[in-house]
Amino acid sequence: MTAQVIDGKAFAARVRTDVAAGVAVLAAQGITPGLAVVLVGEDPASQVYVGAKGKQTVEVGMASFEHRLPGDTPEADLLALISRLNADPKVHGILVQLPLPAHVNADLVINSISPAKDVDGFHISNVGLLGTGQKSMVPCTPLGCLMMLRDHHGSLSGMNAVVVGRSNIVGKPMAQLLLGDSCTVTIGHSRSRDLPALCRTADILVAAVGRPEMITGDWVKPGATVIDVGINRVERDGKTRLVGDVHFESAAAVAGAITPVPGGVGPMTIACLLANTLTACCRAHG
Ligand code: GUN
Repeated sequence: MTAQVIDGKAFAARVRTDVAAGVAVLAAQGITPGLAVVLVGEDPASQVYVGAKGKQTVEVGMASFEHRLPGDTPEADLLALISRLNADPKVHGILVQLPLPAHVNADLVINSISPAKDVDGFHISNVGLLGTGQKSMVPCTPLGCLMMLRDHHGSLSGMNAVVVGRSNIVGKPMAQLLLGDSCTVTIGHSRSRDLPALCRTADILVAAVGRPEMITGDWVKPGATVIDVGINRVERDGKTRLVGDVHFESAAAVAGAITPVPGGVGPMTIACLLANTLTACCRAHG
């Protein structure tokens, strides 16, 4: 293996330490940042994420408000809850865990969150602000990726970046952030022609497709930085393992730097959620 392994776990711990220091400054003024997380239904992966979010929120000194609702909760009840959270001065950040059940209009729900409390950065006005280079709430996973890339490279200006995956949660905002840092950005996806050749043009390759180990070493330009957003559960040798969208061993033999799964992007996502909540609280208190 030649690649440097980027330690997202250690980086996330540093971010949480910084957030905790910010929370302590606010505490001296009698202010406690609060994060409300809303989970609808019993999706096991979502339950794990929501549990981890609540635990880390409390660890940095913030207030955590968890709302776990049954899977058949009517859309109107969910909208009413968000309306109460929007009006609650103790709540500075609101996160509705996705995916939502099929009977709920997810766009309607997300766009009912006050943009100032939208710590996921999914509200249409935050999406628009990001796309036009204005101050916004930035989605946590792409923000975590950008922080690791800036930490590793310093300036990203002029680099060729390829983002594989066009989701609203990762692919599209990731591309906007890289463009904001003056990369030449291409978004690849399932309909792209010759995806491996496209990926080989990348100085920065971000994989966010949700397909286990799809991107192999022969897709990677020698010396490139590979950011693996995938978290896929696979059965192997009778055990459940977590793997990324990148085949780690073969990619690490070619890349200059690579994020592992687990221990790469994943921990950074929650750390950035806490950082966004602190930001929302600071903005709310002028
Ligand atoms: N589900 C998967 N990733 C995310 C995320 O970043 N935010 C929310 N709210 N739901 C998710």
